[in-house]
Amino acid sequence: MSIELSNLTRLEQLIRALAHGRFVSGEELGRALGISRSAIWKHLKSLDSLGLELHSVRGRGYRLATPIELIDRERIQSALRLSNNNTPTIYAPFIVDSTNQFLVERGAAAEGEVCITEFQLSGRGRRGRQWVSPLGSNITLSFAWQFPQGASQLGGLSLAVGVIIAEALEGIGITDIELKWPNDLYYQGKKLGGILIEVSGEHSGPCYAVIGIGLNVKMPKPAAQSIDQACTDIACIKPDASRNAIIAAMLQGLFTQIPVFSDKGLAPFIAAWQQRDALRGKAVVLEMPNQHIQGSVEGIDKEGHLLLKTGEGQKTFAFGEVSIRKKQVHSA
Ligand code: BTN
Repeated sequence: MSIELSNLTRLEQLIRALAHGRFVSGEELGRALGISRSAIWKHLKSLDSLGLELHSVRGRGYRLATPIELIDRERIQSALRLSNNNTPTIYAPFIVDSTNQFLVERGAAAEGEVCITEFQLSGRGRRGRQWVSPLGSNITLSFAWQFPQGASQLGGLSLAVGVIIAEALEGIGITDIELKWPNDLYYQGKKLGGILIEVSGEHSGPCYAVIGIGLNVKMPKPAAQSIDQACTDIACIKPDASRNAIIAAMLQGLFTQIPVFSDKGLAPFIAAWQQRDALRGKAVVLEMPNQHIQGSVEGIDKEGHLLLKTGEGQKTFAFGEVSIRKKQVHSA
């Protein structure tokens, strides 16, 4: 990533000045930031590596190809209604290496804590993959919580989080969300978001989970094309959805429902998960470190494990990566 870290403040000021998507001249930008036009030009060149497309027209100046709704921490915070009337801690660095990493490094906080950002320099996905999310387009959010019961009891957490996010989205009119075992949000057979949970602490004593959620809100085409699987975004479901309203709804759900998971486990979430199961009845391949297993999905059990009908009968799996099998075309 070719971004001068010492220039982050200037870069942030520049993006804030352009976020509305209207033309701004180089001269106006220079005045607003208190730097020369050539310095502005240097900063404008790094927008590309943040996934931002810039239009420039002689005589009019520069504008972003698509306006961006920047994160408004105060608006999010004031939309939250927590039962204890507490104001949650929300960190909102403009750019950060990874929101998960940020909270992992902070370590266990007594109450839940949140980190949201406009852009991750090293956003991480599952299985060591990179998480692609251009600046200001999507939601990259982490939520940290302390669980008294230990890491061994958190097996179904990603499924519960999937339900919490799907219900939060549905509550603001973003409907028909599906859940793909174990960690993905789907819409019409394409990936809408993913969940990455990092747990530290004891196996059977108190532990600390950082729940990272990446959700595509308005994924620019070039970024979508760079991803190695079919993906979609919230703009396809509800084009006028507000990023800040989505973040607030997600956090409201997490702050109210994660304590329910902590007390009762996965049981209260199972039925809601099954209603949104993207894989039920589908012929799939389950990829595990040393083997690939073919079968047809029969749902999940009460621990949140995948039930697969294989040639040797029904089998249960706690982890793995599922892909839907392409239909075979037989020629006559
Ligand atoms: C997946 O591979 O499907 C999981 C993706 C999780 C991405 C999110 S974005 C916010 C948080 N910070 C990270 O570095 N990763 C997670």
